[in-house]
Amino acid sequence: MDTIITNAENGVLTITINRPDKLNALNQKVLSELREVISSFYADDNAGAILTGSGEKAFVAGADISEFTGLSKEEGQQLSANGQEIFNLIENCPKPIIAAVNGFALGGGCELAMSCHMRVASDAAKFGQPEVNLGIIPGYGGTQRLTQLVGKSKSMELNMTGDMISGAEAERLGLVNYCVAADDLISKCQEILKKISRKAPLAIAGVIKCVNHYYNSSHEDGMTYENQAFAECTATEDFKEGASAFIEKRKPNFEGK
Ligand code: COA
Repeated sequence: MDTIITNAENGVLTITINRPDKLNALNQKVLSELREVISSFYADDNAGAILTGSGEKAFVAGADISEFTGLSKEEGQQLSANGQEIFNLIENCPKPIIAAVNGFALGGGCELAMSCHMRVASDAAKFGQPEVNLGIIPGYGGTQRLTQLVGKSKSMELNMTGDMISGAEAERLGLVNYCVAADDLISKCQEILKKISRKAPLAIAGVIKCVNHYYNSSHEDGMTYENQAFAECTATEDFKEGASAFIEKRKPNFEGK
């Protein structure tokens, strides 16, 4: 593994996304390694997992924007479908996975945290769906899961403004379970997982399956809809402009084309 560090201790697998110089942005390599790690977690002896980001600054600052240049509509659709599939694997895992959000959780990073069964934020965390700044929409489940977690009004606001919110605000909105001091982040996740590890594993798997089922009827349709809308954005001039502007470190000039 080049981009992910794993460490198993006391029945808890800690999965750390490790590209701190790029704020742990999700490139294709990270995504394929993440798929591998989660797939083997399904079958291993650990009772739970903590997913976090390396370094002081970021959980995950989004999909890797440098891989966005020159994407066709079909490639955009594929990119989004691949991310949705891996995040669904996390969501449907029969053992608990908690996101320990230690810094920026933006775009694909916020979507990754939302695919976990629970989220604990540090007081340094920042959440947001800033895709609109690039001329696209969230494509890894953000339009669906943010709406499930915080309701329609706030989901509309956060997805349309691209604003960042603090860990404390995320707790207030129900986006995270707890917001704690940075030093307590991992121990809070361990405490929750320890409690769960004393329960019957099949009952825990049942809770995950049934709570997910509550959302499933609209979830699959919503994901397909998001995937198509993401691909349509990928084909626009504004998206080319948005991604280039980020890489060239300048403000985008959107023209609605
Ligand atoms: N994709 C690719 N590279 C990214 C990235 C992303 N999503 N987010 C950060 N990086 C890179 C930066 O390009 C920079 O690389 P460089 O040192 O080679 O120039 C490095 O990570 C550090 O980021 P920087 O922007 O210098 O840090 P900052 O503290 O000034 O700003 C953010 C932090 C999170 C506000 C800013 O990096 C940002 O806006 N990132 C993009 C967030 C986003 O739009 N995510 C959704 C993508 S769909």
